[in-house]
Amino acid sequence: MNGSRMSRAWETLQREGIRSFWFKLVDVLGYRRLFLLRRSLNEPLSRVDCRLPIRMEWLLPEGVGEYRTMRPATDPKELLSRLESRQRCLLGRWNGRLVGAMWVVGRSARIEYLEYELPLPSATVYLCEAYTDPQFRGQGIAPALSNELLRRCREEGTQMAIRATLPENHAALRAHAKNGFVVCSLMRRIKVGSWRRHWIKDVTSQSLA
Ligand SMILES: CC(C)(COP(=O)(O)OP(=O)(O)OC[C@H]1O[C@@H](n2cnc3c(N)ncnc32)[C@H](O)[C@@H]1OP(=O)(O)O)[C@@H](O)C(=O)NCCC(=O)NCCS
Repeated sequence: MNGSRMSRAWETLQREGIRSFWFKLVDVLGYRRLFLLRRSLNEPLSRVDCRLPIRMEWLLPEGVGEYRTMRPATDPKELLSRLESRQRCLLGRWNGRLVGAMWVVGRSARIEYLEYELPLPSATVYLCEAYTDPQFRGQGIAPALSNELLRRCREEGTQMAIRATLPENHAALRAHAKNGFVVCSLMRRIKVGSWRRHWIKDVTSQSLA
C-alpha cells in the first residue's frame, strides 16, 4: 500500500470506525453484502412526517436533464433506457426545485452492487435509489416519497415492496423504518477473479449484520 492509500485508509478508520473500515477492506477483496428489507402492502401505510410541503410527480423523459442537475453522476442514456423499460422514478419538488427521488421496478431487480439479478414474485415491487439532496436531508423527504410510491403501487395491486440497503447506511435504514420496512435477509456475494457466488440468508433482526 502506498503512502496516500495508507493515509486514506487511516482517515477512514478514524472517521467511520473499525467495523465500517473492515467491510470496506473485504469489499476490495471481493466480499459484499446488503440487507434486504420488506414491507407488506396489506398493512396500512405508515404516517410520515415530512417537514417540507413537497409536490410529487413521475420523472418523464423530458425531465432527465433536470434530474441530472440533482444527480450529475447518472448517465442520461441509461436513465432514458430505464424509463423505456417501464422503470419509474418519483420526484419530490419543493418551491419548484428537485429535492428528492426514488425509483420503483417490477418483475426483476438488477442489484448492480452485488452483480445480481433478483427475481421478484408477482405483485411485488423493488424500491431503489432513494436520494435526497444533501441540503434537504433529515426532513422526512425520502419517507414521504416511499409512502407515496407505496400508495400508488398498492392502488395498482402490489402486495409487497422490497428494497436493499448497506448495513452501515444508518440514514437509509432509519428513513426506511419510518415506512414500516423491516430487514428480512442478508444477501452476500463473494468474487474471486471472474468466479462469483451469491447467498441469501433469512434474518429477522438488523443486529445480525
Ligand atoms: C438515505 C436518504 C435517502 C434519506 O433521506 P432523507 O430524506 O434525509 O430521510 P429522513 O429525513 O427520514 O432522514 C433519515 C436519517 O438521516 C439522518 N439525517 C438527519 N439529518 C441529516 C442530514 N442533515 N444529513 C444526512 N443525514 C441526516 C438521520 O439519521 C435520519 O434519521 P432520524 O430522522 O431518525 O434522525 C438520504 O440520506 C440520501 O440520499 N443518502 C444518499 C443516498 C443513499 O444512501 N440512498 C439510500 C440507498 S438504500
